[in-house]
Order: sequence, then C-alpha cells, then structure tokens
Amino acid sequence: MNSECLPKHVAIIMDGNGRWAQKHSLQIAKGHQAGVETLRDIIRESSDLGINTLSLYAFSTENWRRSPMEVAALMSLLLRYFESEIDELDEKNVRIRILGDKQGLPDLQRAAVISAEERTRNNTGLNLCIALNYGGRQEIVRAARSLAEQVRDGRLKADEIDDDVFSRELYTAGLPDVDLLIRTSGEQRLSGFLLWQCAYAEFEFPATLWPDFTLDHYHEALELYQKRDRRFGGRKT
Ligand code: FPP
Repeated sequence: MNSECLPKHVAIIMDGNGRWAQKHSLQIAKGHQAGVETLRDIIRESSDLGINTLSLYAFSTENWRRSPMEVAALMSLLLRYFESEIDELDEKNVRIRILGDKQGLPDLQRAAVISAEERTRNNTGLNLCIALNYGGRQEIVRAARSLAEQVRDGRLKADEIDDDVFSRELYTAGLPDVDLLIRTSGEQRLSGFLLWQCAYAEFEFPATLWPDFTLDHYHEALELYQKRDRRFGGRKT
C-alpha cells in the first residue's frame, strides 16, 4: 500500500453482524459485540495510517424499527464503547464527531456522546465520525431548512447558495467529501449513508461479514482504491 495517496475520507457501513451471530448460533447482541471489536481495530489503524476522516454508520434513523431488545443492546454497547475508549482516543489525538440527530438519543447516550465531542474538540488527528440516529435525506432536508431560514431572515441571499454553502450546513461541515465507501457483507446499497458526501466516492463491497473484517481486508480495500482511476467527471490528459 502506498501511504502517500491514501483516501482522505473513508466511510464504512458495518454490515453483517446479525448474519455473523446466526452463523455462530449466537444471540444478535453478540454479533454487534463482535462488531465493536472490529471497529476498535479499524479506528486504531486509520489513526495510525494518518487517514484524515473515518465515518462509521453505527445506527440509522430506521434502526429504531428493530426489536426493543436489539436496540437496547446497541445502545448499551455504544455507551460502553465511549466509556472504555475515550481515554485512548483522546490520547491518540482523535476528534470525535457525531453525525445525526443527537436529540433523539436516550439521555445517557446523548450525554456520553456530547461529552466525547467536547473533550476531543481541539484534537487534530483522525476525525472520527460516528453516525447515530442518522439518515442521509434527513441531513439534506435539515440543511435546506436551515438555508431557507437564513434567506427568510435576510442573513443570506438565495443566489449565494452553492455547493460550499450547502456543505457547511451538513453534519460533516468542514470535512472532506468521502473518497472511499466500504460496505461489508456483500450488500451493495448506500442505505442513505452520506448521500451528498459520496457524490464522487469509490465503492468497495467486500463479501466479509463485519465481525470477520480484519486489518488485511481493510488494507486490501485501500489498495484497490489506490488502483482506481478517479476522474471526477473529467477526462485523463
Ligand atoms: C449492521 O449489521 C450493523 C448495525 C446495524 C450496527 C452497527 C453497530 C456496531 C458495530 C456497534 C455499535 C457502534 C459503536 C460506535 C460502539 P446487521 O445487524 O444489519 O447485520 P445483518 O444484515 O447480518 O443482520
């Protein structure tokens, strides 16, 4: 792998925890627990490699439709993750950002993520974005509404709205667009993840289930990305 031209922003849809649990005749919560182990390794590696931004899809606005037991298991894993990892992440200079509607999270989880964001606010290493209660359309609608309010209040002119102005209203304001999106488990869907930010992203769909996704698989995806010929709609000269 060439450490010179790594993607600036890697986004990952961590899919396959349920199937992994089923395959091992375990309860679904064990699948998510195993998924957290993978997530820990991938975050550490991204930070060590010097990747600018890593975004992980942890909980979508649709995931509330899962059974109360599974939602509770995910929420409890989330809380435990922040409690156990925050010291190491802070030490590694990682800046945590939550993408999504934090107001819709249970009190304890909301407090934990807000405190993690505040504690790491001035860190300058890996930008670690965790999408929680996140929906891509909801993010775009929220941005449009905010711009409409600014125009209504005379703080902005409609013809001043361009890509940059719009991007600044998204949860990812100030971060680079996604260069590489990885979805594990063989599914080939975006499921609303970072719709705007993925406009020119390269996609990798490894068949591996998320709990089985190793650093070797991650390196392989990064190497494949480096072989891609990105033209952004232009033509190679
Ligand atoms: C998809 O697998 C995975 C999720 C919906 C949750 C991902 C969450 C974690 C890995 C842990 C929680 C996050 C943090 C930040 C601690 P699936 O259950 O949809 O798999 P399936 O398609 O095989 O059923």
